[in-house]
Amino acid sequence: MGSFSRKNIDHLMKESEGHQLKRTLGAGNLIGLGVGAIIGAGLFVRTAAAAAEASGPAVTLSFIVAAIGCAFAGICYAEFAAMIPIAGSAYAYSYVTMGELVAWIIGWALMMEYALGAATVSIAWSEYLNNLLGGAIPYEWCHSPFESLHQVASNNVAQIIAYKPELASMIKNGALILSDEQFAMLPQNLVGLVSITNGYVNLPALAILFLITLVLIKGTQESAMFNAIIVFIKVAIVLLFIAIGWQFIKPENHMPYLIPEGTPGHEGFFKWGWGGVVGGAAIVFFAFIGFDAVSTAAQEAKNPKRDMPIGILGSLVICTILYILFGHVLTGVTNWQEFKTSGKEASVAYTIKNYMVGYEWLGTSVTVAILAGFSSVILVMLMGQSRVFFSMSNDGLMPKAFSELHPKFKTPYKANIILFVFVGLFAAFVPGSVAGDLTSFGTLFAFVLVSAGVWIMRVKSPEIERPFKTPLVPLIPILGILVCAGMIVALDFQTLKVAVIWMIFGLLVYFGYGKRHSKLHKDNQAK
Ligand code: ALA
Repeated sequence: MGSFSRKNIDHLMKESEGHQLKRTLGAGNLIGLGVGAIIGAGLFVRTAAAAAEASGPAVTLSFIVAAIGCAFAGICYAEFAAMIPIAGSAYAYSYVTMGELVAWIIGWALMMEYALGAATVSIAWSEYLNNLLGGAIPYEWCHSPFESLHQVASNNVAQIIAYKPELASMIKNGALILSDEQFAMLPQNLVGLVSITNGYVNLPALAILFLITLVLIKGTQESAMFNAIIVFIKVAIVLLFIAIGWQFIKPENHMPYLIPEGTPGHEGFFKWGWGGVVGGAAIVFFAFIGFDAVSTAAQEAKNPKRDMPIGILGSLVICTILYILFGHVLTGVTNWQEFKTSGKEASVAYTIKNYMVGYEWLGTSVTVAILAGFSSVILVMLMGQSRVFFSMSNDGLMPKAFSELHPKFKTPYKANIILFVFVGLFAAFVPGSVAGDLTSFGTLFAFVLVSAGVWIMRVKSPEIERPFKTPLVPLIPILGILVCAGMIVALDFQTLKVAVIWMIFGLLVYFGYGKRHSKLHKDNQAK
């Protein structure tokens, strides 16, 4: 027993009695829910980052790899979601299947998914807001202290170009912005020509998190109408960008399609060629996060057996097609190398402004729509995180404060406030790419454990009724584990280091607090 004791499934069902939700959602609604939760900063920010860091124009192939991992894990999610019909997440499923310690580990990984995911999207929100305001917010106040801008004023550009002629194509309005690597490679005598601005704190990211926390504390009804409008806007922007951008594609930007070996700044297996495609998949994986939201609505589905897989796979297929076309146009219109420098931020708005002549109006409206879309993703993620905290606190693994409800609004306001401080620290002081990669890690890790859980549960408890069954067990779970674990390995080494420290810290908290306060332990001891 001890850390491996499992919650009893009947017990869990009893706990959820009285929380029965109406079965109102059909396959179409579920697909809408999925697409609404999926499209966000991953597409509008991380696509360019993946192209610049690892896959070049082949970011389209990275989307396919990431989608395959999601599909396998998604089918496994669907089995759990239909079998254990409580509003919840991987945390609740694993408590039943793999015991308390694994549930804790998943809960801790999910914190990376939701909390750091919210931080990542808020940082992306800040980028697009600043773009909308024409760069009016000083760099220092909308970037973390770990970021700096290397700018070469127009009177110094000639000297830099004389040293590195290939940078000539990067000149914008007479000035030049260098990437961190390009700056690091400059000889000492040229460094003085570059003005360096360091970030202090990302204030707009903090501000949007604060506003959304207030909305959450006040309580929000997830209105189907509101979700439908946001889904419509998001899909519309993507389609418009693809349709209009297509005519501005320059085929030479797609050549070569994979980043060639020896490209400066692309040392390492997952930074060029086919390895880079996998490295890029780990980065754009962020763009698929959220399809598990479909699985959390299992108990509201009219016919879970048929509709869950359609909802999960349908939203994945639609998003994958949109993403591939989007990646094709983005890297066709703007050369992927530019996403390291002047096009690093608000890449879609940048592309429209600089290369889609005559469509400047589109840039502004797309940016406004993106800001609205991001806000809804932040809201869903913060809400998801407070639900995980809520369940963990109800189980005694987290302090009671996380499940205390506001006397008037009936929302877990203390959890929301603590969450704001935690997420806010990341949003204010950590670069978006770091937060984004950690989010991918947390989610991929949870996917691996969920895939394993389906298999374990089939062996241990084959008798439980399963309204939806994952086909070809154990093949599908094994493929889910392999593809997702492959993407974890492809993440940046630095990211992996931080993630491992985070997980070890989680274990210390579990053995120092969670295990001692666990309700399940107390119940077991009382028996
Ligand atoms: N998939 C969501 C996004 O890209 C998390 O913002």
